Amino acid sequence: MTSKIVDVHTHVYPPQYVSILKKRTKVPYVRDTEPGKPSRLIILPGEDDPSSESTAKGRPIGSEYYDINKKIEFMNLHGIDISVISLANPWLDFLEPDEAGSIAIEVNDAINDMCDSYKGRLFAFGALPLSAPTTVIASEVERISKLKYTRGVIMGTGGLGKGLDDAELDPVYKALEETGMTIFLHPHYGLPKEVFGPRAAEYGHVLPLALGFPLETTIAISRMILSGVFDRFPKLSVLLAHSGGTLPFLAGRLESCILHDAHYSGPQAATSSRRKIWDILKTNILLDAVVYSELGIRAAVTASGADRVLFGTDHPFFPPLETNSEEEEKWLSVTTNYKAIQDAFGPEKEQAEAVLGGNAIRLLRLATD
Ligand code: URA
Ligand code: ZN
Repeated sequence: MTSKIVDVHTHVYPPQYVSILKKRTKVPYVRDTEPGKPSRLIILPGEDDPSSESTAKGRPIGSEYYDINKKIEFMNLHGIDISVISLANPWLDFLEPDEAGSIAIEVNDAINDMCDSYKGRLFAFGALPLSAPTTVIASEVERISKLKYTRGVIMGTGGLGKGLDDAELDPVYKALEETGMTIFLHPHYGLPKEVFGPRAAEYGHVLPLALGFPLETTIAISRMILSGVFDRFPKLSVLLAHSGGTLPFLAGRLESCILHDAHYSGPQAATSSRRKIWDILKTNILLDAVVYSELGIRAAVTASGADRVLFGTDHPFFPPLETNSEEEEKWLSVTTNYKAIQDAFGPEKEQAEAVLGGNAIRLLRLATD
């Protein structure tokens, strides 16, 4: 059997979700512009800020965002056998508490049904109604864990409003741990816009996406570690978007700061039984390979192991800016990640194959035969 290629970082907005965004006038929303032009998707905080002259007001939303057939075409074009699809940001975070639970059911069922229409090629991460009471969230975890194709949940960094180190999230973490559902931790909120300075608009989305997103993820997972989430839930599994942001590079510094901080009052702060970040990286954390460089892949592999790094594309984000040919061309954002994996492993074919698909099949239970 030839080894399979699995994309664990690939998004979709089911039509039900797009119609929710179309009814909204505040971020996140979908806005129709001129006739004949595609609608625009405005999701990032501050993206429609009237005070900014930004060139970065949303992005065109074509059918590749909501039509599952387009996902399959994209997979075929890039040699991807299986995709683990997830709702894209900002998920269900903005919903009113009393509507979130029922919309989560609708959206998660729609995504699971998409998987059923291409049996064996699609699996899913569900989305959680995080504005609802934790009992509702935990019961949605339990419900989707029984769906045929759902293997985990995609989550942003906001939690219930206070971040992922909020002890109020414990019933949710408990349900995720007990059902063996992986958290796919993905950024959305970025960093405060002031850090990008008064000229930020000239740089489009580059700073928020290249740096704001990964730093947001790094801070969120660090807060989970510091607050002892992995001490309380030692079997919890978290897949970090964009190769963990900067966590592989900064894990040593985080560990050192803990050891030198007289005021750190986290779990077993002063004892040797505190779980070290290096241990958590190798037992609880999975890293996607969406990092676009050999150096980034090597850092991820060094931090978590070649058996815990998983190929991804971030489709349908980062399409080519323009294609000149009539024929469909491969996306630069995808070929860059393939090349990074190839360059990082060289002749170590087995490890490359594990990152490209074997790890996802094993860790997310995707085997169909
Ligand atoms: N931009 C987004 O808003 N989300 C992604 O997943 C990638 C880019
Ligand atoms: Zn993404």
